[in-house]
Amino acid sequence: MKTLTITQPDDWHIHVRTGAILKTVLPHTARQFARAIIMPNLKPPVTSVAIALAYRDEILAAVPKGMDFTPLMTLYLTAATTVADIQAAAASPHIYAFKLYPAGATTNSDAGVADLTAIYPLLAEMEKQALPLLIHGEVTDDDCDIFDRERVFIDRHLTAIVAQFPALRIVLEHVTTAEAVQFVSAAPNNVAATITPQHLLYNRNAILAGGIRPHYYCLPILKREQHRLALLTAATSGNPKFFLGTDSAPHHTALKETACGCAGCYSAYGALELYATAFESVGALDKLEAFASFFGADFYGLARNERTVTLEKTAWEIPLSYGDGDFRITPLKAGEQLAWKLLA
Ligand code: DOR
Ligand code: ZN
Repeated sequence: MKTLTITQPDDWHIHVRTGAILKTVLPHTARQFARAIIMPNLKPPVTSVAIALAYRDEILAAVPKGMDFTPLMTLYLTAATTVADIQAAAASPHIYAFKLYPAGATTNSDAGVADLTAIYPLLAEMEKQALPLLIHGEVTDDDCDIFDRERVFIDRHLTAIVAQFPALRIVLEHVTTAEAVQFVSAAPNNVAATITPQHLLYNRNAILAGGIRPHYYCLPILKREQHRLALLTAATSGNPKFFLGTDSAPHHTALKETACGCAGCYSAYGALELYATAFESVGALDKLEAFASFFGADFYGLARNERTVTLEKTAWEIPLSYGDGDFRITPLKAGEQLAWKLLA
């Protein structure tokens, strides 16, 4: 029996929602990860320390007894965010970053920022307070092809932000293109990126070939094979700028299987197994631990975890859905097999 034991990982980008969905998905994350950076795109968004602390309490209440899990909270940047809000976040021991959504870029991003230069004073304060900026890096212009939106964001906005704020820690979240890999690799060490399992495992054919498959639709959208290969190379390179962030984004199945379906892949149920599958595909399982358990903690200036987790090479079938009778969440790869299994 083949096993792989690694330091317990953290998820540096996840959506866990609230209410019944939170109660369903959080145990999946808490059994895999010691900590996770919690995205603030609730409705209404998490824009203040007070809202984040209430949300943190709701998350902690959903952690199963006997499991040790720490949510790392983030705040949502809006046009109404003030320098005082940044200072309050910096003073809280529970807020770890601000998230920048360009207005309209993705799920619950209507409250996001329309004019990025208008928030430069806020970025200056974050730089001063040593609070990282997490970016959904896509332009939102109707006339920009959806497959080009990340690349154009880098050229039009990110290059300037990185140049303007040389000490600001920036995470370009869920990178999807060879251009993003190249940009982050060439940038100074204060710039890093997360990579999701779906972008390592699939190219855009997964959404469209042989029928339209809404459970492979996420944002930024899956790209061509050449981009998937560039991401796989980056993730397995040992370069500490690239680390694990699932972007696990549960939606009700009914809201994805519809005429205008929501963006998001649900991967938290088997995140490590999915990453192990991707790393094994290029013979790089030995690179999984640093990507999953070291580089993110190092970037955020946090201690690495001390416990370990063990994966076993045992095939198991992914359920068709999670959730109780009232709702369903369809996982990534629903009904298929995974070759690796996380031991309890
Ligand atoms: O696919 C996505 N789903 N991308 C995002 O940026 C947001 C997320 C969500 O919240 O559903
Ligand atoms: Zn996300």
